[in-house]
Amino acid sequence: MHDLEGLAEPGSVEAGLLKVIETAKLPKHIAVIMDGNGRWAGLRSLPRVAGHRAGMVSVREVVETSAKLGLEVLTLYAFSVENWKRPRAEVRMLMNLLKEFARRELRNIQESNVRFRVIGRAQELQPSVQRILTQAVESTRDNSGMLLQIALNYSGRAELVDATNRILLERVRNADKHPITEEQLSGCLYTAGVPDPDLLIRTSGEMRISNFLLWQIAYSEIYVTPTLWPDFRRKDLFEAIVEFQRRNRRYGGL
Ligand code: IPE
Ligand code: IPE
Ligand code: MG
Repeated sequence: MHDLEGLAEPGSVEAGLLKVIETAKLPKHIAVIMDGNGRWAGLRSLPRVAGHRAGMVSVREVVETSAKLGLEVLTLYAFSVENWKRPRAEVRMLMNLLKEFARRELRNIQESNVRFRVIGRAQELQPSVQRILTQAVESTRDNSGMLLQIALNYSGRAELVDATNRILLERVRNADKHPITEEQLSGCLYTAGVPDPDLLIRTSGEMRISNFLLWQIAYSEIYVTPTLWPDFRRKDLFEAIVEFQRRNRRYGGL
């Protein structure tokens, strides 16, 4: 279901891009590596946290736009397992911003009929963060619109290890000796049952995956933009989709 009203002012750049986008061929699932908050702040001689705060505005706009476009799934990489290596003060501020986001945006998320979930080792997050996230998950559980997945304390390798351990446990329990299949493994990932991303966007120009959705991006189209995450707006999302629709996905065939 598309609800394109209000997505573009008549005559604007956004309206021009929207005209080019084929709504019948939208990606079902877009995943985003939201990068460049620190550099955005640095360019303005601001502390890094100002970049993270500004990045929340981009999150709001991308979530709202994706829901209106009628995407099935939007996955946002918000905090990696490796991000704990950052100074404690930055990690603390990131967690506080996350709580603020989950609390403040819940109403918008509800109004957009979005279902919220977290992927990653959420059980290792502070109890206060877990509580707020659980609340957001519970209260949006019955929404029938877009699924919004936030990757938190996420690592693609850790996800594969967790899936493998789950399979091992089940096999021992059931004395199962069959070879493991791709379906079985993908069914034990955090993203079980969710279609793989069609389009992977990375902001800030870095040409790397940084341990994101390693299994699921096997055939995703990759789009890297030099735009820093806090500058990423509806127009940038539309541009990524236009580029995606120009690609020829072959999946190894001809
Ligand atoms: C992305 O921005 C946000 C997180 C990783 C939490 P960065 O904080 O990585 O910003 P840069 O890459 O240093 O500019
Ligand atoms: C990737 O960004 C993780 C998130 C966006 C949450 P990083 O800034 O952590 O990645 P690297 O260190 O540049 O690879
Ligand atoms: Mg970064």
